[in-house]
Amino acid sequence: MQLNTLIVIVLLSGTITVAQERKISSKVNPGCKTCTNDTILMYVRCDGASDTIHQIWDFTRSIPTVIFAVTKLKSSLDIVWDGNNPTGFYMSETPLYSFATALDKIYEYNDLKDNGHFDPNLPHHIHNLDHMMWHVKEISTTEKEAMVRVYGTLNNDRSEEHGTVAIKLDLIPFKDYAVELPHLIHTANSTQFDVSLVNLTSTPGYNASRFALHLLLVSTDSATETMRYTMRKSLDDEHTPGVFEVIEIKTPALHNYAIGGYLQFRPVGYVQAERGVASSTIAHVSYFNRTSLPVRSTMKTFYDEFGRANLLVQDMMVSFGEGGDGYYAQHNYTAWSFAVGYGSPPTDSFSWYVVLIISGGLLLPVLLAVSGMVYVLVRRHRQRYNSRAMFANED
Ligand SMILES: *[C@@H]1O[C@H](CO)[C@@H](O)[C@H](O)[C@H]1NC(C)=O
Ligand SMILES: *[C@@H]1O[C@H](CO)[C@@H](O)[C@H](O)[C@H]1NC(C)=O
Ligand SMILES: *[C@@H]1O[C@H](CO)[C@@H](O)[C@H](O)[C@H]1NC(C)=O
Ligand SMILES: *[C@@H]1O[C@H](CO)[C@@H](O)[C@H](O)[C@H]1NC(C)=O
Ligand SMILES: *[C@@H]1O[C@H](CO)[C@@H](O)[C@H](O)[C@H]1NC(C)=O
Ligand SMILES: *[C@@H]1O[C@H](CO)[C@@H](O)[C@H](O)[C@H]1NC(C)=O
Repeated sequence: MQLNTLIVIVLLSGTITVAQERKISSKVNPGCKTCTNDTILMYVRCDGASDTIHQIWDFTRSIPTVIFAVTKLKSSLDIVWDGNNPTGFYMSETPLYSFATALDKIYEYNDLKDNGHFDPNLPHHIHNLDHMMWHVKEISTTEKEAMVRVYGTLNNDRSEEHGTVAIKLDLIPFKDYAVELPHLIHTANSTQFDVSLVNLTSTPGYNASRFALHLLLVSTDSATETMRYTMRKSLDDEHTPGVFEVIEIKTPALHNYAIGGYLQFRPVGYVQAERGVASSTIAHVSYFNRTSLPVRSTMKTFYDEFGRANLLVQDMMVSFGEGGDGYYAQHNYTAWSFAVGYGSPPTDSFSWYVVLIISGGLLLPVLLAVSGMVYVLVRRHRQRYNSRAMFANED
């Protein structure tokens, strides 16, 4: 029983600290006097004990973008606007570290071999998001949560039909599992990025369409460095049934010095709005390639102002599906979530349920072994006693 209690205490001490780790405050289009309802730039300031994370969630130049800039405490950010466009980001001090991610393109590929994953040799069609119009559906700027939900329509260039791309960005400033599958871990240092592709129409002539996301990854690390891909086997699939892997994309700073930027996700996507085991599919991740910032982008504006010649810019593709699943048209829906964060990526901690099962699993064999030993000892002792008694009688 002591071992059991000890395990519970050790594991709990790691999980019970659920205090708010950063004080957050958020604003929509700060400093903009002429912005209309459909201008969406959310600024989220997260003050911690020793530093401040400034986050910019931007849709103004159409490419959904999340920028993190880490500074010492008491720094500020001013944004200069020209109409509906931010044209300058001025920080009161140079950030200690910055990184960003953006969804700049959606690839449609005709998966003739029915492999699921994207292959550049397959016929494909690139939907550049730099002309997309985004509309706000929901917004929250409280001290407990910063959240924005937007949607845009994606026209198929060669037909009049269109589908919807929906994005939700969400920051909840303490460590816990997200409510929705795949129950990624959120912390005060991270933002969850959900994207769903609904009712997209396929390019005429494609009979096996799937859609893939093209992501840009940027950090203020040396341009000769590279982002790192790691896959961890998770200890249990309690939070994401059937999925034991956690994938992390780490910036060089995180890889080399244990503190930097990351993307964290599970290799799973969903083909229905109701997320569940039955509606899940495989998310495939490509290798990274080096690239440059889109010319007309908020990232370009931000990092030009920043004055860093040395910037690491890479891209990657995330594609969805598996052979025999009927392609995208089977459900006309694909959704995926990832966390983008700073620090070191959070790891699973056991819940009570798992602790009980594991400690029960340890305890049971111990109990059996001990009771077995006791039984044997007692028997031997009795036998010896009996035989002694026998000898005594014979004497
Ligand atoms: C902007 O949003 C507000 C509140 O949601 C609404 O009352 C107003 O009509 C909107 N303006 C435009 C131009 O859509
Ligand atoms: C997608 O299409 C289905 C079936 O036509 C419809 O019920 C649903 O509302 C559409 N969703 C969106 C976001 O347009
Ligand atoms: C799609 O068309 C190609 C030829 O154009 C054919 O080989 C393939 O079997 C078709 N795939 C499906 C799923 O119909
Ligand atoms: C990177 O380049 C390789 C080789 O050309 C290609 O197979 C891969 O799909 C590319 N990745 C991205 C994200 O474009
Ligand atoms: C998906 O959309 C295509 C047309 O783009 C349609 O033919 C197909 O029936 C739709 N699938 C579902 C499950 O609604
Ligand atoms: C958040 O980042 C700070 C450093 O800025 C670090 O000390 C802290 O441990 C991080 N918290 C989490 C939950 O990753």
